[in-house]
Amino acid sequence: MKIILTGAASAICREIAGTLDSFSVEREASPSLVSMSLMTRYPNLISPEVIKKHQVITGDYADKKAMEEVFIGNDILFLAPAERAPEREQLHRNAIEAAQSTGIRHIVYLSFMGAGREKPSSFGLSHLKTEQILAKSGVNYTILRSGFTLESLEIFRNNSRVFWGPIHSEGCAFIAQRDVSDCIVSVLVDVASGGGGGHNGRIYTLTGPRVLTIPEVLKKINDFLPSQMAFSFCPLSANEAIERFKSMGEKNIPGLYEQWKELFEAVEQGEFNLVTKDVQKLLGTPGREIDKWLESASLI
Ligand SMILES: NC(=O)c1ccc[n+]([C@@H]2O[C@H](COP(=O)([O-])OP(=O)(O)OC[C@H]3O[C@@H](n4cnc5c(N)ncnc54)[C@H](OP(=O)(O)O)[C@@H]3O)[C@@H](O)[C@H]2O)c1
Repeated sequence: MKIILTGAASAICREIAGTLDSFSVEREASPSLVSMSLMTRYPNLISPEVIKKHQVITGDYADKKAMEEVFIGNDILFLAPAERAPEREQLHRNAIEAAQSTGIRHIVYLSFMGAGREKPSSFGLSHLKTEQILAKSGVNYTILRSGFTLESLEIFRNNSRVFWGPIHSEGCAFIAQRDVSDCIVSVLVDVASGGGGGHNGRIYTLTGPRVLTIPEVLKKINDFLPSQMAFSFCPLSANEAIERFKSMGEKNIPGLYEQWKELFEAVEQGEFNLVTKDVQKLLGTPGREIDKWLESASLI
């Protein structure tokens, strides 16, 4: 079975590719099980070691025809979510349609936990729309909805050692990105080895093992760091936080302020404060505790 990973330049896809690589080394007897190629818009960002081992192809969700050429001959597609933007749904639709027309047998989509809410925030809604396109595509699929990753907490950090976060929040079941990528690999390998039936049409919601507030996470990080590197927490309303980010002259990536605001509100509204058993189901463990995550996290 041949797997094609999109979003190859992103941090999570690098992890997925690396783990799939070590998986094929361990299972040398059947290397064809996880034959892999990688699609990216920026092949120059892919390391020479990866390029030596795998086929790296330039592709963009905006160009359906070119994607069809990229996908042809593959069996399984890992679909990385594009950045948050009004055209995201259309970009994902292009990729799903290209998969459909080139005979991809199974699509694994990395979605977001908010997509499962009764009334999703606009963050979750754009993922939900992709999920709906997938469900109607006729191609076998598996959806993994990631919770708020520990790595993404950085988005609430200002330029110094202060995190700006919602005043009222019951917390989030923060998950280590490595657990998300390991769950994706677990599904990809199962599907590649013919056991994909159990994953077909399934939605997994991936969370960390417990709900913690941002100050509780920072306390654990501070216990781990030398005292001069300690972080502090400044509770704000979403509007106050956006005004402060703006006044810092933060680089104005289109839509960035809106993303911050939505994420603030989603945390305030408890969008991520649920612990599920899906990581346990897929990995056989409940996922990393923060203490474990800290051992390999890069905190500056
Ligand atoms: N669960 C969480 O806490 C969490 C955290 C971060 C992000 N996310 C989700 O993941 C989404 C993306 O994350 P991000 O904004 O941080 O971006 P990111 O890590 O850069 O990942 C997005 C990847 O998708 C690929 N991509 C984007 N647009 C594409 C296009 N037009 N054609 C082909 N590939 C394209 C890119 O691959 P190439 O660059 O290789 O072309 C990119 O690496 C977010 O919107 C969010 O929903 C969730």
